[in-house]
Amino acid sequence: MNTTLPFSESAERNQKPIAQVLKDFITKQDRNIFEIGSGTGQHAAYLGSCFSHLDWQTSDVKSNHSTIQAYIDRANLNNLLSPIEFEVGKTPWPRKRFDIVYTANTLHIMSWKNVKTTLKSVNKIMNEGGQFFIYGPFKFDGEFTSESNEKFDLMLKENDPQRGIRNFEDIKTNLEKNNLMFTNKIEMPANNMILVFTKITKQEDKK
Ligand SMILES: C[S@@+](CC[C@H](N)C(=O)[O-])C[C@H]1O[C@@H](n2cnc3c(N)ncnc32)[C@H](O)[C@@H]1O
Repeated sequence: MNTTLPFSESAERNQKPIAQVLKDFITKQDRNIFEIGSGTGQHAAYLGSCFSHLDWQTSDVKSNHSTIQAYIDRANLNNLLSPIEFEVGKTPWPRKRFDIVYTANTLHIMSWKNVKTTLKSVNKIMNEGGQFFIYGPFKFDGEFTSESNEKFDLMLKENDPQRGIRNFEDIKTNLEKNNLMFTNKIEMPANNMILVFTKITKQEDKK
């Protein structure tokens, strides 16, 4: 391994369990995926190798692009696409549509205003029947699922008061207002979860 690349230990730890779950949902008919907040690019490199039939569009703020590109170059896979500059609240949403949108550990980093923008806008870049996967820690009915998540939330807020672990019900309500129906939640190691939402077309939208 090239140890000179920036490296996230948590991304290394959680990528295999995430792949195991995604295998139950991603189908051979799915063609492409948009990743919001690719971070180092480790998830794209690993998950892209597990789902070689998907064009994997990475994205993040510009300052992360060189690392993401370095992971893409090292992975040397045909389906990994160079990062596009994408920052909710600052840059426009892609004009393309995707079968899958995936984001890991971003909703507690963005401000709640930007989370709401994400939940309102994501359906616009998704094909009908498309799936939205959100990985990370969540609260349920306002309650933390573990003491460590509560401590993590405090640490996030000390760094930036706009950050914080989000409430599952708020995510669900905001997505369901926008044609993304809650499909599943899967418990993951270290008190994380994967939430799955599926894009439906409401009757009035068909007219
Ligand atoms: C904790 S890192 C997670 C990185 C990677 N997904 C992972 O799980 O290892 C949070 C990521 O969210 C990105 N991010 C923060 N604010 C964002 C925004 N407003 N729009 C899109 N991405 C954002 C950061 O640049 C960073 O890459």
